[in-house]
Amino acid sequence: MKVLVTGAGGMLGTDLCADLQARGHEVVATDTREGFVPLDVTDKRAAFAAVHEARPDAIIHCAAWTDVDGAERNPDGAYRVNALGSWHMAAAAAETDALLLYVSTDFVFDGRKGAPYTEFDSVNPLGHYGASKEAGERLVRQTLPGRHIIARTAWLYGVHGKNFPYAILNLAKKLPEVPVVADQVGCPTHTRDLSRKLIDLIEDPLPGTYHVAGAGHCSWFDFARAIVAAAGLATPVVPITAREYAERFNSPTERPAYSPMRRLALEMRGMDDMPPWQESMAEFLALVPK
Ligand SMILES: NC(=O)c1ccc[n+]([C@@H]2O[C@H](COP(=O)([O-])OP(=O)(O)OC[C@H]3O[C@@H](n4cnc5c(N)ncnc54)[C@H](OP(=O)(O)O)[C@@H]3O)[C@@H](O)[C@H]2O)c1
Repeated sequence: MKVLVTGAGGMLGTDLCADLQARGHEVVATDTREGFVPLDVTDKRAAFAAVHEARPDAIIHCAAWTDVDGAERNPDGAYRVNALGSWHMAAAAAETDALLLYVSTDFVFDGRKGAPYTEFDSVNPLGHYGASKEAGERLVRQTLPGRHIIARTAWLYGVHGKNFPYAILNLAKKLPEVPVVADQVGCPTHTRDLSRKLIDLIEDPLPGTYHVAGAGHCSWFDFARAIVAAAGLATPVVPITAREYAERFNSPTERPAYSPMRRLALEMRGMDDMPPWQESMAEFLALVPK
């Protein structure tokens, strides 16, 4: 297949492009970053021109405003990229009959269900990042009925990006102890596992909404402790609350307290082989340059 990737220079996009190529697909790697086919998804004309020129069979739309606190400070900026940009990509896909896969987030949920979320649960984002991504979901569904896949993921980390495991490893080397939030629970997801599953989904598409996250769930505190231990460091990890974190680090964002995701659509299709988060984290640490 010919696949156009947006946000190809980002954490997920980098692994995804490599994995697509390894599986024999032709890739058009676009981004606003240097070194890629230039494409700013907020520019309608550019979005349509890129898709008309490439004529891809599928678009994997990874480009996003991913700065969660920044979205609280500048909601319009977040909506411009996550809602308008996704609308453009879906409309361009509609014109060229391409399949569009939109990567979304567990932040579309409020975290108050008390059990893992399925694809059939109602959304209720708490902040502007989640709301702008949810607006993107709706625009994709409306603009491209029958030709879209929405893949919600969570707590993403990969070799090619700024992420939680890197931050914890750095802090554990610098500080006498590392304070980490213990009252937020979710599904850590390695970009390599996500990327493999996104490609499975475009190769055998059944349009609709999917949860694609690492198996099992934990708190940020559990995740940090596991990272520090697996890296052979002795630095203590100490639990703090989300409220303490917000005060200490001046974070304006209310995050879902409990957003594990059940991969019910993948389960029903017999496609759920996402590895447990502990296994994926060990694989990630083995890939991190020493
Ligand atoms: N990271 C997570 O924990 C997480 C969790 C759930 C879902 N997701 C979703 O997963 C997807 C990939 O996330 P990621 O962590 O790989 O993100 P990322 O590393 O921030 O990559 C996003 C890429 O999109 C680019 N971009 C930003 N604005 C753009 C625009 N207007 N036009 C074109 N490209 C633009 C970014 O460039 P610059 O960086 O130079 O702006 C970057 O290269 C996103 O849809 C995100 O919402 C992420």
